[in-house]
Amino acid sequence: MVGNRIVAMAAVLVLLLACGASVQAAKPYEAQDFSKLKGMKGFSDKALDLHFTLYQGYVKNANLLWDELQKMAEQNQAATPAFAELKRRFGWEFDGMRLHELYFGNLGGKEPLAPDSRLMKKIVENFGSYDKWAADFKATGAMRGIGWAVLFEDPQTGRLFNVWINEHDVGHLAGGQPLLIMDVFEHAYLPDYGLKRGEYIQAFFDNIDWKAVEGRSGK
Ligand SMILES: [Fe+2]
Repeated sequence: MVGNRIVAMAAVLVLLLACGASVQAAKPYEAQDFSKLKGMKGFSDKALDLHFTLYQGYVKNANLLWDELQKMAEQNQAATPAFAELKRRFGWEFDGMRLHELYFGNLGGKEPLAPDSRLMKKIVENFGSYDKWAADFKATGAMRGIGWAVLFEDPQTGRLFNVWINEHDVGHLAGGQPLLIMDVFEHAYLPDYGLKRGEYIQAFFDNIDWKAVEGRSGK
């Protein structure tokens, strides 16, 4: 009898905790502050401010779209073309938000990747050498189009891939863990480099925070 009560109380507690967690998860996203990157060599404050403003727009729109979708579902509008279009759009806004956070989050470093680090060993295993990996990553970032160059890790095998993401939402590896993210939308380099994307890519490499990148690797 007492055992049953304890089990019931534990079930209620788990339910309450789950409710609390879901309420917390439903909080709107808030734009993170990356102003510490200002003064970074190769990136003007003006360009960074512009980029932060664009990022804040993705956060705002990810929140806005999700709220709108919830409202439409509650108002029985889920079978409408408008709902379908907003639903498709949500991933674009969300990925735009998250990719920018990962991008700003892997900038601001001053040290190269340590030669004896676990990530360096993995890069050599997967690409033959650091230089071969870097050449491939830079070539990915130099591709015509707007999007992102991403070093992905496959958590199931630990393998690494340099991948192109078109805009924000096409080309992600399902279940893949992004380790290093480079924005190659024109707004990322036009203000400081005009059409010289290669010079921007070099400036990006000069400022990679490799500790942040390594912290994202699981295996
Ligand atoms: Fe961007």
